[in-house]
Amino acid sequence: MAAARRAVDAGLDGVELHSANGYLLHEFLAPDTNHRTDAYGGSPQARARLVVEVARAVAAEVGPGRVGIRISPAHGVQGIPEADADDVAATYGALVDGLAPLGLAYLSVLRADPTDELTQDLRRRSGMPLVANRGFSTPTTRESASALVDATDADAVAVGRALIANPDLVERWRAGADENEPDPSTFYGTTAEGYTDYPRLTA
Ligand SMILES: Cc1cc2nc3c(=O)[nH]c(=O)nc-3n(C[C@H](O)[C@H](O)[C@H](O)COP(=O)(O)O)c2cc1C
Repeated sequence: MAAARRAVDAGLDGVELHSANGYLLHEFLAPDTNHRTDAYGGSPQARARLVVEVARAVAAEVGPGRVGIRISPAHGVQGIPEADADDVAATYGALVDGLAPLGLAYLSVLRADPTDELTQDLRRRSGMPLVANRGFSTPTTRESASALVDATDADAVAVGRALIANPDLVERWRAGADENEPDPSTFYGTTAEGYTDYPRLTA
């Protein structure tokens, strides 16, 4: 909550709750990692409880319109396979049922095929705008982003690598201009390299 408040006070439009890709909130959702026997473990509803409580608390701090959430149901990265499709549907269904009354800004779904029935079910049940992303296999392009909006009826597409490499990606996509190639050797770096040194078109 304090981090969300500081982010908004610093001028950011909002914060995204990272409930995806094997990080802490995701670890509570998944039966692979959540072995608790208290009110935060066991049933799908219980495993979703912490994520809903965090979302409610952060929304109360900075306003629900400034809070999005990212999930990656059964995407299988960082040690969380979520192999039981029925459990995945029940868990993420319970999650979005809990999130629906909060009026958050968006639901960001990372999934190899976000056109599938689960994603559409989550979208309907959550009542939230959908942000779609296909994960790491093929980098999002201008064309694939557009196709994904058409295929999923998404409200937006999350873009990773192309945006990292192009600080002016929106202008480039608008103009159909050439793009800088992302350099994976600088991903997740601890210096400014790879974060601030990709050139702009007009540089
Ligand atoms: C360097 C790097 C850092 C990333 N960090 C995050 C992150 O903090 N949270 C997250 O949900 N996804 C993160 N991602 C994943 C992207 O949001 C996105 O899902 C992925 O790159 C696939 O989209 P793309 O094809 O547009 O790159 C990261 C990706 C890269 C390349």
